[in-house]
Amino acid sequence: MTERGSFASKIGIILATAGSAVGLGNIWRFPVETGTNGGAAFIIIYLACVLILGIPMMTAEFIIGRRTHTNIATAYKQLAPGEPWFLTGYAGMLCVTLILSYYSVVAGWTLKYAMSSALTEMSAVSDTAAFFNDFASSTWAPMCYSVVFLVITHLIIERGIERGIESFSKVLMPILLVIMIVLVAGALSMPGAKTGVEFLLKPDFGKITGDVVLSALGQAFFSLSLAIGCLSTYASYFKNDVNLGQTAASVVGLDTSVAILSGFIIFPAVFSVAGASPDAGPGLVFITLPNIFNNVFSGMPALGYVFSLLFYVLLVLAALTSTISMHEEVTAFVHERYQVNRLRAASVMTVISIVLSVLCCLSFGPLKDFTPFFGMGFFDFFNYVTAKFIMPISGIILCLFVGWRLKRQVVVEELTNRGSLHIPAWVCSLFIFFLRWMAPIAIGLIFVNELGIWK
Ligand code: PFF
Repeated sequence: MTERGSFASKIGIILATAGSAVGLGNIWRFPVETGTNGGAAFIIIYLACVLILGIPMMTAEFIIGRRTHTNIATAYKQLAPGEPWFLTGYAGMLCVTLILSYYSVVAGWTLKYAMSSALTEMSAVSDTAAFFNDFASSTWAPMCYSVVFLVITHLIIERGIERGIESFSKVLMPILLVIMIVLVAGALSMPGAKTGVEFLLKPDFGKITGDVVLSALGQAFFSLSLAIGCLSTYASYFKNDVNLGQTAASVVGLDTSVAILSGFIIFPAVFSVAGASPDAGPGLVFITLPNIFNNVFSGMPALGYVFSLLFYVLLVLAALTSTISMHEEVTAFVHERYQVNRLRAASVMTVISIVLSVLCCLSFGPLKDFTPFFGMGFFDFFNYVTAKFIMPISGIILCLFVGWRLKRQVVVEELTNRGSLHIPAWVCSLFIFFLRWMAPIAIGLIFVNELGIWK
């Protein structure tokens, strides 16, 4: 076996890890959740979730990966030999495989929209709902786009950590941020900008209900790629002088900024067209927005062209940096556990995810009525079981593992880089206390509530 790869620079680490976090969750799911949960009030709860739960839990995941410098299943085995904790590693790999399968379907849609925008097909569409439904329910086209997406992911993964993941993230993430800023500036000059900004900034606390809190927490987990081993895998490539807490705070900060900025792109646009609604649900980005781009820019088609193209390219890039991270988690495991080279290991994951993603694509078309999983098809079931079960349960186990099972000394050594960083002892104690009690109880309550037991 060749020597294990690692990220070469600190900026590379932050950009690659933020790349995992920043994705369709920020630009597609966050505005949908904000729109359907009442705007600013939801954002405040969301911010509380990412700051209070997100930073410590991300740091906990980093500790597991950086301590062991190995894949997620082996990491648990090394830290707790002969004990069943490693099963969480397997659950995490199952979870990312299922997420990657349905995520690459939506990623495929973004690729289709970017292509259609580039070829000016998008600006000629008059009924955007029919356009989307015809496309998503067809047999071959969505499948081809998601397979292309997975193959691009594969090609990056195959190049390894520094030459693949790190170097692509260092190019893609800055481009993504620049596109966002251009789009925010454009959106703020639209006629409905003021109403859109008010929707984002003026909270109506009456709108905060139990459901809103649950949605905010679920969104925080998904958006930060938390609890399923992806971040531990990246951290296994961190060098020993990386400040884990600070890195987690930077990644959470970047991820949250991108989510909020995408709100500042989408809602000013939504309020610029009479009749468009912020709570349009999942169709917001694929049905409502293209319609808005065509209407708002009807007198200036060139501007509409640029806006639409940039927006969908932004989604493609964001999705790509996330699919890479999901793919890497399983590739690293196959590579190290079965001692095969990276190319072979990556191919295994690519083939599995292509097969599953084809099934997810078909559940919008020919397999629409095939709903064997409690009335759900493949796409909805994969989404449901990962978000409602595997992520929260793995989250609780992660906290319990780092809080209770790891020795305090190990946690402190990782937080302080074996004493070379000056982090006061009370901060370390608070961190451990939080993981032992507060985080598992909070997630546990939310999980039980999500199952509908109290409803
Ligand atoms: N955080 C990604 C997003 O917001 O789109 C999605 C994701 C990536 C979830 C990696 C889980 C994961 F392991």
